[in-house]
Amino acid sequence: MWRATLLTLFPAMFPGSLGQSLAGRALANGVWSCETLDLRDFGLGRHRQVDDTPFGGGAGMVMRPDVVDAACEAAAPGGRPLIFLTPRGKPLTQALVRDLAAGPGAVLLCGRYEGVDQRVIEAREMIEVSVGDYVLSGGEPAALVLLDACVRLLPGVMGAVESGEEESFSAGLLEYPHYTRPAEWEGRDVPPVLLSGHHAEVAAWRLEESRRATRERRPDLWNRCASHGGALAAAAG
Ligand code: ADE
Repeated sequence: MWRATLLTLFPAMFPGSLGQSLAGRALANGVWSCETLDLRDFGLGRHRQVDDTPFGGGAGMVMRPDVVDAACEAAAPGGRPLIFLTPRGKPLTQALVRDLAAGPGAVLLCGRYEGVDQRVIEAREMIEVSVGDYVLSGGEPAALVLLDACVRLLPGVMGAVESGEEESFSAGLLEYPHYTRPAEWEGRDVPPVLLSGHHAEVAAWRLEESRRATRERRPDLWNRCASHGGALAAAAG
């Protein structure tokens, strides 16, 4: 069973919204497990203090290395990677998600306040991961994102149709747009090629739409994905 352990000051956030979704059903079916450790339980003194003021001055508080380390120890990572969710981290990509989903699980440290003492991040060889170039009030929503992305790839979670081919990002392109009935809605038609029954033309149209969307919306992906020159039969389905 793929095993997630969350180190958080807000254990009630897990499995949280995932409980209603695909990942929630997978959790009920025993495909994965989700346990939380309350960082407060490892806090120091009468007030169970988990943070302190930053050396060098500045605003906010920093989580203490001894407190975080004790929680990491209690999590018993075994062979699981220890991931710290932070806007300072490397971007969460589908490639990283695939690697994590193929492993035994993950221990996810959700930070609050201004950060976590860097020494425990290094001592525990944590992987610092960001879910995007914006700042959340804490790592918990980022951990939910990471979990959702991993769990849907676990064996038996997704329907047979989607699981083989990966949609957006597998080929380095954004997905093409989708249409269903009615064929005409509020004066808007479905692109005629999709009603033509010509599978090769449909595939060509979808590939071109994928390429166009990637070029227009994600020049960063477009320039990196070597999709120029038609190297990507995959995206054509
Ligand atoms: N914590 C706060 N912002 C974050 C982000 N963008 N990614 C991961 N963890 C975070």
